[in-house]
Amino acid sequence: MNTLGTKYRLTLFGESHGRCVGVVIDGCPAGLKFDEVSIQKELDKRRPGQSEIVTQRKEEDKFEILSGVFNNYTTGAPIALIIWNKTQESGVYELRKNIPRPGHSDYTAHIRFGGFNDYRGGGMFSGRLTACYVMAGAVAKMILKKYGIDIVAHTTKIGTVDSVDFPKTIDEIRKQSDNKVRCADAKAAEKMIEQIMEARSKMDSIGGVVECIAENVPPGIGEPRMDTVEGEIARAMFAIPAVKEVLFGDVQSKGSENNDAFIIKNGKIMTGTNNSGGALGGITTGAPIKFRVRVKPASSIALEQKSVDVEKMKPTSLKVIGKHDPCIVPRAVPVVESVAACVILDLMLRAGVIPNVLKENRRA
Ligand SMILES: Cc1cc2nc3c(=O)[nH]c(=O)nc-3n(C[C@H](O)[C@H](O)[C@H](O)COP(=O)(O)O)c2cc1C
Repeated sequence: MNTLGTKYRLTLFGESHGRCVGVVIDGCPAGLKFDEVSIQKELDKRRPGQSEIVTQRKEEDKFEILSGVFNNYTTGAPIALIIWNKTQESGVYELRKNIPRPGHSDYTAHIRFGGFNDYRGGGMFSGRLTACYVMAGAVAKMILKKYGIDIVAHTTKIGTVDSVDFPKTIDEIRKQSDNKVRCADAKAAEKMIEQIMEARSKMDSIGGVVECIAENVPPGIGEPRMDTVEGEIARAMFAIPAVKEVLFGDVQSKGSENNDAFIIKNGKIMTGTNNSGGALGGITTGAPIKFRVRVKPASSIALEQKSVDVEKMKPTSLKVIGKHDPCIVPRAVPVVESVAACVILDLMLRAGVIPNVLKENRRA
């Protein structure tokens, strides 16, 4: 339903044009020094209106803590974080409430909830809800950082442009992808921006691919047979709106090329290559967890499209006028990174590698 995770559990609530969006995080270890600034920084990466290539909607995305934090530390009680909605313009949605946008969730939500769903701005299906993943991911990252785990996501494709020449270390990828499209290949980034601007001028949208890498996840994490590392990550990724494909590692055509040979380095067993994407048998190998997700082109486009009036049962057409992203990939990057952090923390808690009380902060 609306909850993700087994031990680090997130429940999302709110709607795009309702009073607020928010997340309740259950199972967060107690004794975590709560870094509000880092949560806001992460939210700012996802926020709309950051540049001319994303939606010009003005959403401040300032969050508030409602519970679970006391004297600056997590208490072990559910943590509730919310963002109040301030700038919604719902009029246009009232006008076309019976005409589902092709490619969006309007029609399926109408059927699933018998027409009682909040259709304004996509309601609970809006990309706005992904701010909640970002808040939960920022909390997860605070804990993972203590265990040396670092996660980065970056754009590897937009439209027909691939990012080919990007650095291999997480730090460098993070630095070099600090641009409008979140792409670590500067030349490709320029072409991506051109394609987005072209799509915008044609009242269309384009999609792309985001790669995510998590380093220093210890070997032995994962709950096979069913709750594999790949399975848990993929399930969570498909809970991000517009994600349509998840692919782990770099599968090669021959076994001899695909197998990652085991080696010993600095007294540790590791693999020489990482075609597996950091998991074998659904359990981490100790190599970086590496996967890619394909993000579809946003469905809300100003071009005229065919649809139907579900009340009148008649064919009609619509143009989605409003402030929509010509490409949601750059804004999906921090969301992918955050959701990955939540799943990795969940699996580490399940493996017993991270305790329920963070020991270095334990009070007498
Ligand atoms: C960060 C983010 C922002 C989004 N913004 C929009 C948007 O402005 N317009 C739109 O049509 N879809 C947007 N989406 C995608 C829709 O929410 C999504 O396509 C819709 O809910 C249907 O779900 P599905 O594509 O997973 O089937 C966004 C997704 C994300 C991750």
